[in-house]
Amino acid sequence: AAQSAAESRYVFDELAWGNDETHHIAEGYRADVLLRWGDPITADAPAFDPLNQSAEAQLQQFGYNNDYVGYAEIEPGRGMLCVNHEYTNEEVMFPGLGRQDRDGFQGMTKELVDIEMAAHGGTVVEIAKGEDGLWAVDLESPRNRRITPLDTEMTFSGPAAGHVRLQTNDDPEGMRVIGTINNCAGGMTPWGTYLMAEENFHGYFWTDNLDAAGDPVMDSGNPETTSYGRYGVPGAWYAWGRYYDRFNIDAEPRMPNKYGWIVEVDPMDPDSVPVKHTALGRFRHEGAETTVSSGGQLVIYSGDDNRFDYQYKYVSAGTVSDDRAANSQLLSDGTLYVARFNDDGTVDWLPLVHGEGPLTAENGFNDQGDVVIDARLAADLLGATPMDRPEDAQPRGDGTAYIMLTNNTRRETGNAANPRPDNAFGHIIEIKEDGGDHAATRGTWDILVRCGDPELAGIGAQWNPETSENGWFGSPDNCAIDAEGRLWISTDQGSGWANTGKSDGLYALETEGDLRGHSKLFFRCPVGGELCGPYFADNDETLFLAVQHPGTDGTRNFEGFERDSTFEDPATRWPDFQDGMPPRPSVVVVTKEGGGKIAV
Ligand code: FEO
Ligand code: CA
Ligand code: CA
Ligand code: CA
Repeated sequence: AAQSAAESRYVFDELAWGNDETHHIAEGYRADVLLRWGDPITADAPAFDPLNQSAEAQLQQFGYNNDYVGYAEIEPGRGMLCVNHEYTNEEVMFPGLGRQDRDGFQGMTKELVDIEMAAHGGTVVEIAKGEDGLWAVDLESPRNRRITPLDTEMTFSGPAAGHVRLQTNDDPEGMRVIGTINNCAGGMTPWGTYLMAEENFHGYFWTDNLDAAGDPVMDSGNPETTSYGRYGVPGAWYAWGRYYDRFNIDAEPRMPNKYGWIVEVDPMDPDSVPVKHTALGRFRHEGAETTVSSGGQLVIYSGDDNRFDYQYKYVSAGTVSDDRAANSQLLSDGTLYVARFNDDGTVDWLPLVHGEGPLTAENGFNDQGDVVIDARLAADLLGATPMDRPEDAQPRGDGTAYIMLTNNTRRETGNAANPRPDNAFGHIIEIKEDGGDHAATRGTWDILVRCGDPELAGIGAQWNPETSENGWFGSPDNCAIDAEGRLWISTDQGSGWANTGKSDGLYALETEGDLRGHSKLFFRCPVGGELCGPYFADNDETLFLAVQHPGTDGTRNFEGFERDSTFEDPATRWPDFQDGMPPRPSVVVVTKEGGGKIAV
């Protein structure tokens, strides 16, 4: 293994695997906390006080559960950091609550709901690199802003904008919505705007119609019943619908159609109104990573993170130019495709176009608005391949794309691209688009790795044999490609951590040559945390990572941590380690000691 480590294209000594209260980085690198939940993002924001939280304070502070991290450079060493805040963990955010479920929501007063709504969404903040090579937030920047489901107005573009199914009591035109929810991964466009993907939107919608078991059900008189059944609405994960009609489908039966989209934000203009671009389809978007085709079109890969759901890509009609306003139009006029992975190793991208094939009025699609609102139902009819939960997808400029299939323990029968029944550890697919062109409607695919412990007989893991016990991983989630074209993977094992004993982390995964399929551990999370980001910036001298929900996920399955974390008794108090301070999801900045490109 020592000899092959010397041949690795990633120059660093791999970290030892493990699981403890704090984070770890490979030797020779720094991992500094840049922004924690509650940190002020404006000069007049109050300091974080966990015992005296308010929505007003949270609206000027960094939000909860940082997931996607993007960066738009203004000049070398200065730019706008764009961070998604996917969801909240009430039991570790607020004192005295314990774990919440529908019956326990009585603890969630309107005051607490407002705080957690203000903790969702996104943060756009200017950061700069100091003389010491370390990054800091510029609190004086007029561009700093929070984007939330509490108070940020948004508009719609594309075929569903103004559609009758988007017309609600509070917006008869079907053109406006307040906020964005469950923003998981995302992307940056080639012109420096920030794409926020709305993932598990179904979980935010409430109803007072309950079945005999007390579970939420759709009102069968609602014309959206079939659609909402396919999307899992109403999930009722949060009590917001008790206090806000817009999250209560009994009061606003069409409102869920206004979520599940890709939102574009201009980080350079703090007064800009974010736009939900409906041409990209409505599903549980994990992310929205962009590239440019050989012919100059914008291409966006986006997975629908649900068991047996699909991988999509969007190709703009026009081409990317130097005109930023014209570029944003590329997100309203283009073709959405869904992937069919054929048994012969080819992939076909099937267009979701009204009037083509089965996407007609006889099948319930009256126009292209219906097609994008019900992208899942359209893709079902087209014969897309049911996948093992498509998480992030990362295109590379050479016509290659990497697709993270995180896991699917409900799979009973494999298909060629998802070969393992009871797939607890996931796999990664590599797509090579025909002619190296991301706009191609056909390509080939291969499985790069089948994840999990290669020593465990029977689970069918497959890695380059030079991979050490530190290097293999389970449940790939986010990914990035650095300036050298090398692939990096971060993991999210959820409460299944006990199956590997490893904390989530960042891995360097070879895609070329004899070491193809070889993985090395670079960074690992504190216990109960999931690793998001990753994003390379600053000519690869800076790597942004996001440690999400430290101390919460599956801690009861771990020796030394056998309990559910609460505000009073968290499994870790990372990153502050101060009495009374709950664990705080935080963005971490990785730099090389003494400077220089990472892993070079
Ligand atoms: Fe929010 Fe698919 O992870
Ligand atoms: Ca994710
Ligand atoms: Ca990514
Ligand atoms: Ca995940």
